[in-house]
Parts: sequence; C-alpha cells; structure tokens
Amino acid sequence: MQTVTPKPAVLLTRRIPSDVLARLESACNVDLYDGAAAIPREELLARVAGKQAMLCLLTDTVDRQILAAGPDLRIVANIAVGYDNVDVAAARERGVVVTNTPDVLTEATAELAWALILAVTRRVAEGDRLVRRGGWRGWALDFMLGTELRGKQLGVIGLGRIGAAVASRAPAFGMSVACHSLDAPPARTGGAPAPVAMSLDQLLASSDVVSLHVPLTSATRHLIDRRALARMKRSAYLVNTARGPIVDEEALAWALREGLIAGAALDVYEREPAVHPDLFPLENVVLVPHLGSATTETRTAMADLAVRNVLSVLAGGAPLTPVP
Ligand code: NAP
Ligand code: GLV
Repeated sequence: MQTVTPKPAVLLTRRIPSDVLARLESACNVDLYDGAAAIPREELLARVAGKQAMLCLLTDTVDRQILAAGPDLRIVANIAVGYDNVDVAAARERGVVVTNTPDVLTEATAELAWALILAVTRRVAEGDRLVRRGGWRGWALDFMLGTELRGKQLGVIGLGRIGAAVASRAPAFGMSVACHSLDAPPARTGGAPAPVAMSLDQLLASSDVVSLHVPLTSATRHLIDRRALARMKRSAYLVNTARGPIVDEEALAWALREGLIAGAALDVYEREPAVHPDLFPLENVVLVPHLGSATTETRTAMADLAVRNVLSVLAGGAPLTPVP
C-alpha cells in the first residue's frame, strides 16, 4: 500500500499575489487569514497551533507567546526586510528559523525616500491641498517658495542596502552625501564620490536633508529626539522611511511648530496606523501611509522570496535569507 505524506501546514496571515500563493499551495496546506486588516492577536494565537511554518507581516507581533502557541513551527518568514516585530532570540531558542526579504525592496524604498525628499522641499503635498480647497490665487514671484537641492548635503543615517541606494541617487540632484552608520562607507558609490562618514551630531548639524535608514533596535529607538532635532539646521528637512519609533513624534511636532527645522516627511509612525495628532495641523510635514515597498513588482517579489524561504526550510534545505 502506498503511504501519502501529508503536506506541511502553513499559516499565512494576509493574502499574497495569487500566482505566489498557488506555488505555496502546491506544496503545503495553507491556512490563509483573509481579513481586511491585520490578523487579530487571539486569532493568530489560535491558528498558529499545529503549523510548521508561518508567513507574516510587519503588522504581526511574533513574540514568545505566539511562538509557544506554535510548537511545531520550523520557520517564521516575515514579508518585510525589517524584523523588529519578531522576537528573533526567542525563535532561536526554539530552533525556529526567521527569514526576511532583503534586497528585493531596496530600490522601491529608495525611490519613495526621494519622492518624500522632493515632496517636502518643494511643498508638493501642501500645494496639492491648497489647490484642492480653492485657495490658489495665481502665479506670483514669491509664492510657495521651496528649497533647491543642488549644492546641498544629504545626511544618510544607516548606510546599509537602502541607505546606500538613496545615497547613490544624490549626485543626480547635485547633492553631496554624509553618512553615519555602523558600517564603514564604501570607497565609491556608482562612480560618485564616497559618502563622508561623520558622527551623528556632526551629520545632524551639517546636513540639509537627513534621511533615516537604520533598523529599529534598542539603540535606535528615539535616536531622533528633542536633542537631535535641536542640533539640526533651522533650514533642514528630516525624512523617515525606516521605522516610526526611531523618531520621537511628539518632539518632531514640537520642532516643526517652533521652526527648529524647516520640514519633515514621514512614511512610518510610532504607533501605526495612528499618527500623532500634533502633526496633522502642520503644513510643513508630508505624511504617507507606510508605502516604502508598495509597488506591485516589489510586493510580489517580497511574497515570492518569503514563499521560497518556507519551501526551502520545509524541504530540509537552508533558508535563503535568514535574519542575521
Ligand atoms: P540594512 O541593509 O541592514 O541597513 C541598515 C544599516 O543601518 C546597516 O548599515 C546597519 O549597520 C546600520 N545600523 C544599524 N544600527 C545602527 C545604529 N545604531 N547607528 C547607525 N547605523 C546603524 O537594512 P535595509 O535593507 O537597508 O533596511 C533598513 C530598514 O529600513 C529596515 O530595517 C526597515 O525597518 C526599513 N524599511 C522600511 C520600509 C518602508 O516601507 N518604509 C521598507 C523597507 C525597509 P550593520 O549592518 O553594521 O548593522
Ligand atoms: C517594510 O517596512 C519593511 O521592513 O520591509
């Protein structure tokens, strides 16, 4: 008699592109949470039981309790490059592999960082609001003036994959690049002069645009606080496409209100999807809803990489992109 090996059970906490899902379903029994918003915690606790793998999102907190509720788990595949939502140490203790989705989202996120830099320095969102409410009275020489990028310094905090991709686009806008990172800057970036390494304080005090690209860790939580904001030039802009809690949002609202900096553009927030209410009345802040990797191509590539990680580990192979 032929014995049929049951397919491994996999929890998928949100819908992914159908062709990628089909590939997962061909090898696994997939329990898909199909709700419109993030899976509620109680549901996650209940549904992880008996699963050998979980594909999750940055909106899912995978802590000790969740891992304990899924004692059969062999892999947690986060569909994001940031993995501050997963207790990696607790997973390691249980022998559970954690993977993320590096590289495939680097260019999309770097493009969004530049979209925000241009939007805030040229007052794009503010101008859009003005036109829509019928407030535009016509062209004038001194109307809604912004700041030019040519000849200015971009300060990149965290010169990893995305930080370096953002830095590599700076010469196209005539900007020089300073960086503050744990890594030494590369000798050259794509034929452009190498970024100048600086201490955090030096970078904050000398940059015209500061762009954040560090992961969220205990060392980077509130890295940009009142003190850091007060060090920046009054004419400078802050852009955050990394993680919300790296910036103290209340301190940022204070700095924007008091004119300590010229403006800010945020893709990420301390308590997503909530945004600090003090930011809403301010015209000099651009707010977008965590769109860094949000292109069809990139989101498909992220889901595909997570699925390939799961299939490899469940087949007894090595994960393709384990977190360090
Ligand atoms: P990465 O390649 O690991 O780059 C992070 C860089 O920051 C590394 O060079 C790292 O140095 C450095 N770093 C870490 N801690 C630091 C500290 N305390 N001070 C200074 N530098 C520090 O990661 P990535 O792929 O570029 O992604 C960066 C982050 O962007 C992710 O963690 C994620 O939170 C965020 N992200 C957001 C979106 C979005 O939708 N908005 C999309 C993608 C990513 P070491 O390598 O030496 O640790
Ligand atoms: C998005 O924020 C990511 O970390 O991939």
